[in-house]
Amino acid sequence: MERLIVAYNWYLAAHVIFVIFWMAGLFMLPRYLVYHQEALAAGRAEEAALWVEREGKIRKIILSPAMIIVWLLGLTLATIGQHWAEPWLHAKLLFVLGLSGYHGWAVGYAKKLAANKPTLSGKTLRMLNEIPAVTAAVIVVLVIVKPF
Ligand code: HEM
Repeated sequence: MERLIVAYNWYLAAHVIFVIFWMAGLFMLPRYLVYHQEALAAGRAEEAALWVEREGKIRKIILSPAMIIVWLLGLTLATIGQHWAEPWLHAKLLFVLGLSGYHGWAVGYAKKLAANKPTLSGKTLRMLNEIPAVTAAVIVVLVIVKPF
């Protein structure tokens, strides 16, 4: 039993570490998209090409690996800790699914910009930038306060 608690704590620490990496990527990529779109609008093709390169790197090195590891460790914690019947976890999963969807959207929009096909206004893009911060705040409250 003691061993399981020690293992749980190590998984928990790793989970939070990779949550930080994933969130860092989710804060950075949408900001890159704003700069990328502005470079395209101003006809700065060389700069736009640099943003394509940066977006690809952040996706491959930080965003995708961190998201996969957060999911794997989160599901492991829920199983070892026997949290599956707890309502806070269900609510948290809903928000984490939303965050994963946002991740997919941001990667998809980066591909649109790489093809020089922006579909959103700069203002909308900036507003969408706020989603990860708000969602992360809700998730942290759910997992720490466990209001239900
Ligand atoms: C991907 C699916 C995820 C699952 C299945 C999951 C599940 C869990 C579980 C079961 C715990 C342990 C709770 C406890 O011991 O009381 C935990 C801890 C935690 N999770 Fe997640 N999680 C996921 C994603 C996330 C995300 C995206 C965030 C933040 C944006 C996050 C933030 C945290 C934090 C801060 C803790 C530590 C809470 C504490 O014990 O002090 N998790 N998670």
